[in-house]
Amino acid sequence: MTLDLKSAIRTIPDYPKPGIMFRDITTLLGNARAFRRAIDELVQPWAGTKIDKVAGMEARGFILGGAVAHQLSAGFVPIRKKGKLPHTTVSIAYSLEYGLDEMEMHDDAVEAGERVILVDDLIATGGTATGAVGLLKKIGADVVAACFVIDLPELGGAKKIEALGVPVRTLISFEGH
Ligand code: PRP
Ligand code: MG
Repeated sequence: MTLDLKSAIRTIPDYPKPGIMFRDITTLLGNARAFRRAIDELVQPWAGTKIDKVAGMEARGFILGGAVAHQLSAGFVPIRKKGKLPHTTVSIAYSLEYGLDEMEMHDDAVEAGERVILVDDLIATGGTATGAVGLLKKIGADVVAACFVIDLPELGGAKKIEALGVPVRTLISFEGH
C-alpha cells in the first residue's frame, strides 16, 4: 500500500536548485487510484470521530485538505499567504529556508475549542506547519493532529510539531533531499 503511494510521486533532481530532490505530488494527484488512496489513508484515523474543521496551507495543502474535509464531512479552513484573505485575519510570521514570511487565517474561521486537523502535502523543516499550528492555537482551536503525505525526516519538521504537543501522521517518507 505504502509503495504504491511512493511510486506515484515523481522526483525531480536539482529542482528548484542544485542538490534538491523535489518530490512532485502532481503525479499522485493525477493518478486517480493513488489520489484516492492518499485521501483514504489521511482520513482513516479520524473516521467516526468528531472533527469540526480541516485546515490546509496554501497552496498544496488546499488540494489534499479540501478532499479530506469533504470525506470527513468537516469544514475547510484555508491558511493563506499574506494579503489574500478579505475579512479580518490573525497572522503569524513563519520561517522559510531563507528568511521569514507571514501566513494568515480569518479570525472567525474556527471557534474556540473546535477540533481541527491540519493537512499539507509534505513536512520538511516544519516551518510552515509550526506557523499554522501557532495560528490555530491563537484563535483557540483544539489542534488534534497534523497530517502529511510526505515526511522528510532528516529535516526534523515532524519532531518540531510533536514538541508543540500536536501528534503528527505521515504516510510515506523520503530519506535524502
Ligand atoms: C512546501 C510544501 C509545504 C512546505 C514544507 O510548500 O507544500 O507546505 O513547503 O516545508 P517546511 O516544512 O520546510 O515548511 P511551499 O512553501 O513550497 O508552497 P506551495 O505549497 O504553495 O507550493
Ligand atoms: Mg506548501
